[in-house]
Amino acid sequence: MLKSLQTKWKVSPARLVLILATFALGGSGTGWLGKKIIGWLSMESPFWFVPVYIIIVTIIWPFAVLLVSIPLGQFLFFKIYIGKLAKKITSKKTQRKKEAPSSSKKGIVVFASGAGSNAQQIIQHFTGSTIAQVSLVVCNKPGAGVIAIAKQENIRVLLIEKENFFRGDGYLPQLKNAGADLIVLAGFLWKMPPSLVTAFPRRIINIHPALLPKFGGKGMYGLNVHQSVINTGEVQSGITIHYVDEHYDSGDIIFQTACPVLHGDTPAILATRIHTLEHLHYARVIEEILDPKNPKTT
Ligand code: GRF
Repeated sequence: MLKSLQTKWKVSPARLVLILATFALGGSGTGWLGKKIIGWLSMESPFWFVPVYIIIVTIIWPFAVLLVSIPLGQFLFFKIYIGKLAKKITSKKTQRKKEAPSSSKKGIVVFASGAGSNAQQIIQHFTGSTIAQVSLVVCNKPGAGVIAIAKQENIRVLLIEKENFFRGDGYLPQLKNAGADLIVLAGFLWKMPPSLVTAFPRRIINIHPALLPKFGGKGMYGLNVHQSVINTGEVQSGITIHYVDEHYDSGDIIFQTACPVLHGDTPAILATRIHTLEHLHYARVIEEILDPKNPKTT
């Protein structure tokens, strides 16, 4: 049980303890305050007591948990967790009210070949969205974690191979078939072939786990990036979301945000901090790009 939570949230055992402690303290604080408020309201009828109590604790709980998460150093985790929870609840409501015809939604095709944590965030972010949906996951590594994630989320997977990608049609017919309005690279290590860059002008984006133009280019992926950042003595790193051209990590920058590099950071520790930033921003930036109401959308 604890192990599966650790895998699901991608946290260290120590961090899991702090997260569970936040849940426990926030939860009991909520219960205590809820009873106090019921007391102040001096409610006598048991008929009203239960529903009013449930409403009160539902309102207090997110604030209590966020408050407790600050001294325990888990604020960012709970900000994302509660945000997702709220989104799930509201998207279920909107879905019930008006299910948009899927043809009016923009199609996102995610290219990923690794663990797939960003792909998962993006899929979940757009579940129930009226703006866009992930219609396909493209992967070049049989057995990659992202394949299991896509299956679990009921998203079709296209396994590609080098010859056709670089020297064939680049899988353009399949991408068109999937209604690709935006191609999103999330841990995909092959360069985009010119045929696809031409077919999707400013419609292919990538996320890089550092502040480009520094620490980009060939070989700059995974822990290599974070090792170089640490070796160079940088005091901050971050994420870059950028358009993709025919070169590695060189297209126009759409969004960047930074985080500190702390004394004693290992590449793995820094990678976790960077992943948290990626999960917080990537899907949101994609939505901004695709939202027809966004004035910046071209
Ligand atoms: C991310 O760190 C991203 O910046 C890089 O590849 C990694 C993918 O991680 N391009 P995941 O597979 O989404 O967990």
